[in-house]
Amino acid sequence: MSYQPTRDDHFSFGLWTVDWTGQDQFGSATRPHFDPVEVVHKLDEIGAWGITFHDDDLVPFGSDAATRDSIIRRFSKALDETGIVVEMVTTNTFSHPIFKDGSFTSNDRRVRRFGLRKVLRNVDLAAELGATTFVMWGGREGAEYDSAKDVFAALQRYREGIDTVAGYIKDKGYNLRIALEPKPNEPRGDILLPTVGHALAFIAELENGDIVGLNPEVGHEQMAVLNYTTGLAQALWANKLFHIDLNGQKGVKYDQDLVFGHGDLFSAFGTVDLLENGFPGGGPTYTGPRHFDYKPSRTEDIEGVWESAKANMRTYLILAERAKAFRADPRVAEALAYSKVLELSEPTVGANEPLDAFLADRSVFEDLDVDAVAARGFGYVALNQLALDHMLGAV
Ligand code: GCO
Ligand code: MN
Ligand code: MN
Repeated sequence: MSYQPTRDDHFSFGLWTVDWTGQDQFGSATRPHFDPVEVVHKLDEIGAWGITFHDDDLVPFGSDAATRDSIIRRFSKALDETGIVVEMVTTNTFSHPIFKDGSFTSNDRRVRRFGLRKVLRNVDLAAELGATTFVMWGGREGAEYDSAKDVFAALQRYREGIDTVAGYIKDKGYNLRIALEPKPNEPRGDILLPTVGHALAFIAELENGDIVGLNPEVGHEQMAVLNYTTGLAQALWANKLFHIDLNGQKGVKYDQDLVFGHGDLFSAFGTVDLLENGFPGGGPTYTGPRHFDYKPSRTEDIEGVWESAKANMRTYLILAERAKAFRADPRVAEALAYSKVLELSEPTVGANEPLDAFLADRSVFEDLDVDAVAARGFGYVALNQLALDHMLGAV
């Protein structure tokens, strides 16, 4: 197999990903910026389907209206020429110094009002360009010191902000849904909505939560020592998996944004297996874009940037092929049966079993041979080894 991506694979990239110049806290840029039009053409050439961006990635912060219009017109022309779609748009509320204490949750009300206007303006642009997801990553919504933030008030303001944006989307009749992106820390010492679980609980408190879901990122969950695939699974279970940010991370350290699969490869296999094949026992599936939010390492030159972009897609396609083979292998079916993986889909109390009958059933409790049941192993290691064999192509 060539692992050559096509449009049907629905791979998309953030403009800020391939366009990252390599500037970090310790050193200056190692590469120049691209012209966004060139990025659109290049993504088309390498087999991607979509592009996403922050407002400021495309239109420099503070540009006047005429400049903004002409940049957007030029960019749209490139989209028309290539057929590359803008599937998601997001707002930068973290780079400019005004956002140093956050946007929707800044202690300074003037900043909150400015931030809300910046986001709403960008919602209009997202709708105009045909995006269906509006990602909100509140990287500066947080604090370094517990004394600095009234977290109750911050969550009230966060809810007010998100509900206002969601209400605006509804009023305008836009075909857009908001996807919140959790992250535990970096750039703030602690960020609000640090994990998938926190964000799901927050969404449940919203008035317009029906159009608000999640955009979980591999590295962000792993920075919190959590299992990304399990996070995706719970978001799916809650019908809230609106979008994904795929990348790689090696353990608990700074946000590495490596190429997908270049961190925890086994976890990446599990992620692709879930995305491509769904839950073993059925249930909701993810049908959205396969979006990469990675950074081409600072050591790469321009050729290396495009090689790294291709590497994300190639890794995904290899893992998709392997995950399909894993699910189709009769030995895996046997191992799944031995491990009773599908038995978990069966309700614990039967649909037509009155609770009285359950309580009176001596075989369930009084007469159960507890030691015999306890003695039986689940065979998970053998099952997992089959997953590893398939992942490595050792079959
Ligand atoms: C990160 C984040 C960001 C967001 C993006 C969307 O690496 O911390 O992934 O890149 O995804 O800014 O707003
Ligand atoms: Mn990241
Ligand atoms: Mn991200």
